[in-house]
Amino acid sequence: MLDRLIKIATTPVSLRAKIMRRVMSSLALGSYVTRLHACAVNRPWYGWCLYYAALEAKALGHRAMTAIEMGVAGGNGLLCLCDHRDEIEKAVGIQIHIIGIDTGCGLPRSNDARDLLYCWPAGSFEMDQSKLRQRIGTRADLIIGDAKENLAALNFDGRPLGAVMFDLDYYTSTRDALPVLTGNHTLPRMWCYLDDIDGYPENCYVDAIGVRAAVSDFNRQSSDNQVSRVYCFQGLAPEEWHARIYACHRLAHPDYNRCPERGKHQLPLE
Ligand SMILES: C[S@@+](CC[C@H](N)C(=O)[O-])C[C@H]1O[C@@H](n2cnc3c(N)ncnc32)[C@H](O)[C@@H]1O
Repeated sequence: MLDRLIKIATTPVSLRAKIMRRVMSSLALGSYVTRLHACAVNRPWYGWCLYYAALEAKALGHRAMTAIEMGVAGGNGLLCLCDHRDEIEKAVGIQIHIIGIDTGCGLPRSNDARDLLYCWPAGSFEMDQSKLRQRIGTRADLIIGDAKENLAALNFDGRPLGAVMFDLDYYTSTRDALPVLTGNHTLPRMWCYLDDIDGYPENCYVDAIGVRAAVSDFNRQSSDNQVSRVYCFQGLAPEEWHARIYACHRLAHPDYNRCPERGKHQLPLE
């Protein structure tokens, strides 16, 4: 108990902010965007990627977009993504289709040393499929199978891909899933949450392994498709998850340079 109190009182987010967040989220105080910026929502990192992807899609004239969770496990993340979607659809005025992809039987077998097998043994995070299907209903499409094998069959149906939550743990799985960010079904910029870009001290993450290595490989393949951290958190209290917010820029996308609703900027002399 004492350790817990000390932890709460000494982490970078102030106690005042923590109390305010709890009140705002339990009473749904303020607009969705205000709650999102105040971190008074569940998994703000999911909301952040989804909300800004929705704004991008809307600005480019789309009526609908797609978001994917790569790596679903029990399904808590997918359900949370659907909750954010419900609020963002109303706030932005766009329809958002959610897809979840998972083997269903947990982490696949691997003998690649870059997969952090010392942290994540094969078979971890098995899904209770019937329980999740019951909870999710028609709120999202749940695709069971290896991510790589299912990429080609994904049906975007005029709803371009705007956001992807990558939570596949392994280097190999992330390397094989990142190509979802290429092809002619995407927005010119997509928001990505990379859950395993860092981790607990026991994981000892470095650049040569895991998700960081997969992103480097992806970026080396084409200078036109680049996944990088997004620098957009000025003025907000620092949060661990800020370092996991990435975007994929597709510089050769036909819409990359379009600036439809934003108009000219002016700085008249005062
Ligand atoms: C940490 S769990 C995901 C947790 C979930 N996103 C959440 O927040 O509740 C990682 C998941 O990635 C899945 N996974 C890993 N490699 C995969 C692959 N190649 N294809 C499909 N699923 C994979 C595993 O089955 C596992 O359920």
